[in-house]
Amino acid sequence: MNSRLNHRDGGPVKGRRSVSSLARRTRGVPWAAALLAVTVHAQEAGQPLMEKARQLFEPLPKDMATEEFPTDPARVALGRKLFFDPRLSLDGTVSCQTCHRPGLYGTDALPKSIGAEHRLNARNAPTVLNAALQFKALWIGNRADVEDQAMKSLTGQTSFGNPETAAVVRKLKALGYEAEFKQAFPNDPEPVKPENWGKAIGAYERTLVTPSPLDAYLKGDAKALTPQARNGLKTFIDLGCVSCHNGVAVGGSAFRKFGMFGDYWTETGSPSIDEGRFKETRNPADKYLFKVPGLRNVAMTPPYFHDGSVATLPQAVRVMGKVQLGKELTDQDVSDLVAFLNSLTGELPQEFATEPVLAPRTFSATPP
Ligand code: HEC
Ligand code: HEC
Repeated sequence: MNSRLNHRDGGPVKGRRSVSSLARRTRGVPWAAALLAVTVHAQEAGQPLMEKARQLFEPLPKDMATEEFPTDPARVALGRKLFFDPRLSLDGTVSCQTCHRPGLYGTDALPKSIGAEHRLNARNAPTVLNAALQFKALWIGNRADVEDQAMKSLTGQTSFGNPETAAVVRKLKALGYEAEFKQAFPNDPEPVKPENWGKAIGAYERTLVTPSPLDAYLKGDAKALTPQARNGLKTFIDLGCVSCHNGVAVGGSAFRKFGMFGDYWTETGSPSIDEGRFKETRNPADKYLFKVPGLRNVAMTPPYFHDGSVATLPQAVRVMGKVQLGKELTDQDVSDLVAFLNSLTGELPQEFATEPVLAPRTFSATPP
């Protein structure tokens, strides 16, 4: 589970109900076995659905701050501007929002993203909403957290395309950002640097939570889910989707093989085969391992999977049944599951739905 978010330095984050009961129970215990025990226990006790759901999921926190990564207003304000500023990219056309668009719930609706100079990304853009809940960032978990991701994104070949760190620092200064960096990092003598733009953008991302009907349900409002969504929740638990997609993010806490019951590409029709985490670690045991994605807002973020190979949610659910559970799902199962997944769609945060006004560009005769 997300121990970084939940109990950094061994102690729970103050004033935040963030240690999932599941995480506590499963610390040091083989994951699947512990989960099974919880599920079986719940069934034996004849617990109502809501009780079961509360053991497996958790309502969203107010934001995703930790002690190490606070969401103080100066950092968030700076991070928000940087997120929306295309002038930071190599060709002046790409900002974070190019691929994580508010209107598209923080995605770009493309199978694979297109960055500076129209460079094609290797994978599909997941949403930035609630992303900081996950135990690692990116499909194969090769970034530690949203700060690490944001820090490296500005020099990434296929996103911003800047050749090196110094070029980004020059741009930030020329665009008048230095004062805001000073404000956000008052104790840092050289505040305009990669760690700090990572922390500022990360602070903004940590405010992007989207409370959904599932959260209202977990807090006790049984009617927050439609009867069909409740059936879908039950199916999600009974079929075992929840063995991978659980916790506060409804996923995002482990790597699992995509294709437990056969090659994923025979079901997704993927035009090329991505070896997943193996690409990063070169360990044969990591072949086809991907991060189990969090499913919050999943109905709003097609196309699906790491390569955007599946266009619709019902089809993605069928593929999951087949290759992750070895089951051919019935039409009823699929429509119930989709009804449940629809209930994970939350409200867009105001600070995401509207763009910030960027500082006017000032030109000087002498280059910086
Ligand atoms: C050119 C398109 C593009 C741009 C620009 C871009 N991203 Fe992404 N983003 C992606 C893609 C594609 C992935 C998945 C890459 C992978 O997993 O290999 C991703 C992944 C992420 C993730 C991880 C989400 C998860 O669930 O693991 C976060 C967080 C994120 N981006 C934030 C940002 C921020 C912040 C910026 C701006 C600094 C940014 N992105 C700029 C395309 C883009
Ligand atoms: C054994 C673990 C496992 C089980 C069980 C499982 N999933 Fe998944 N799920 C994954 C992984 C891993 C991915 C990412 C696959 C990829 O694209 O590389 C995923 C992806 C998804 C996606 C696509 C998300 C996106 O943003 O593209 C959906 C939807 C989904 N799962 C729903 C379900 C449903 C519904 C069930 C039960 C029928 C289920 N999953 C069972 C591991 C699992």
